[in-house]
Amino acid sequence: MTAFPSGLALAQFKSELDRLEVVSRFPEMPNNLFDEGPHLVTTPTLPWGDEIRELSVEAYRRFIHGETWITGSGARQMEADIIGWMGKLMGAETPTGFITAGGSESNMCAILTAKQLSGRRSGSVVFPGNGHYSLPKLCRMFDLDAIIVPAPEGHLDRVDPAAIEAAIRPDTIAIIATAGTWAFGSVDPIAAIGEIAQRRGIYLHIDGAFGGYILPFLERSGYDRDIPVWDFRVPGVQSISADLHKNGMAPPPAGSLTFRNEALLAAAKLICPPNGTMSGTRGVGPIAGAWAMVKLLGESGYTAVSHASMAMRDELVAGVLSIPGLQVYPGSRINMTLIHSESLDLRPVAEELRRRGWMFAARTVPAPVGMVFVPMPHNHGKIQSLLTHLKEAMKLAGPLDAAKEADVKVSAYGF
Ligand SMILES: Cc1ncc(COP(=O)(O)O)c(C=O)c1O
Repeated sequence: MTAFPSGLALAQFKSELDRLEVVSRFPEMPNNLFDEGPHLVTTPTLPWGDEIRELSVEAYRRFIHGETWITGSGARQMEADIIGWMGKLMGAETPTGFITAGGSESNMCAILTAKQLSGRRSGSVVFPGNGHYSLPKLCRMFDLDAIIVPAPEGHLDRVDPAAIEAAIRPDTIAIIATAGTWAFGSVDPIAAIGEIAQRRGIYLHIDGAFGGYILPFLERSGYDRDIPVWDFRVPGVQSISADLHKNGMAPPPAGSLTFRNEALLAAAKLICPPNGTMSGTRGVGPIAGAWAMVKLLGESGYTAVSHASMAMRDELVAGVLSIPGLQVYPGSRINMTLIHSESLDLRPVAEELRRRGWMFAARTVPAPVGMVFVPMPHNHGKIQSLLTHLKEAMKLAGPLDAAKEADVKVSAYGF
């Protein structure tokens, strides 16, 4: 066909598609350490990476026209497979739940469930200041007061359980804690928070959007035996978000919300009929893509992936610590590292790294800038070159005092 009904010729259409891919920076994905990319690729330690990713894409394509309504029985089985398998790895005896569009939706559905169970039309939600921005967002959306508990002075990655308890009000419907915080990678003291939630009869949701699909594999394989217990093994935990499109290696959008038991899912379905999800129609492509990943990787595949990602994080951390003036924020238990300086203004350094093509998030806490890197398998072979550029860019670092006055802004996401 030379021209389509719209008048666009095939060649024009394809060249526009090519252009849009280029402006989206798809060809540069190996330089993207912001948790975007094909994630799972073949490397010497993950020899099956490309094959499994391609099978996941095939599953996605085969179900691309599927919806979760009349033709959704395959989707329901795939969801049950994913939730059942991962829920058990996260310590639930009878896990239930569903696939969502990601961590934000999972957190929203969990708190709507807590609201339903509380019988209240309004109320408050308590969570530490290290919580993801989806937490204050959902409170605004659902007319709930966000009670944000600040971190102990000088320790942004830490949470004081006593301060959480002190913040609880009579109208508190839920507490949220995080396993794998954005952007510290830390795990909140969930055993202590769970004890408080249980004693006070309050719903406890865990945001494991980032940590969910890596922490169990690091713990069970012995990579890190000291990860604080954070999942359904803590009796007070009612639900957990865990994103497949982050460390689950699946194509987006695919998150999960897992409940401890069927009764909680039933409450979710009452407030968000018919599935418990925010959306009505859900495409089955992402569910099928995620299902393929889970089925083909299994525990030993995810363990290998988690070790590969952590090896890159460790390589990056070691290199950063050898550069004078740079620090790595302590507390990360996952493949995330926040680089900052207590003596220098790194904003020009962040700009220079971005100018050289590196993609990462930046934040103004700790001030004036923290650079957040999340190595995943598709970044394989890139860490030394990132470190070389970082060393060179450090020549542009300014004195910290001047930073307060300087009018250099660093955008959070680099666009
Ligand atoms: C801890 C945490 N929670 C929730 C989210 C939100 O996930 P999504 O962007 O998939 O909605 C993120 C995203 O980075 C996150 O890191």
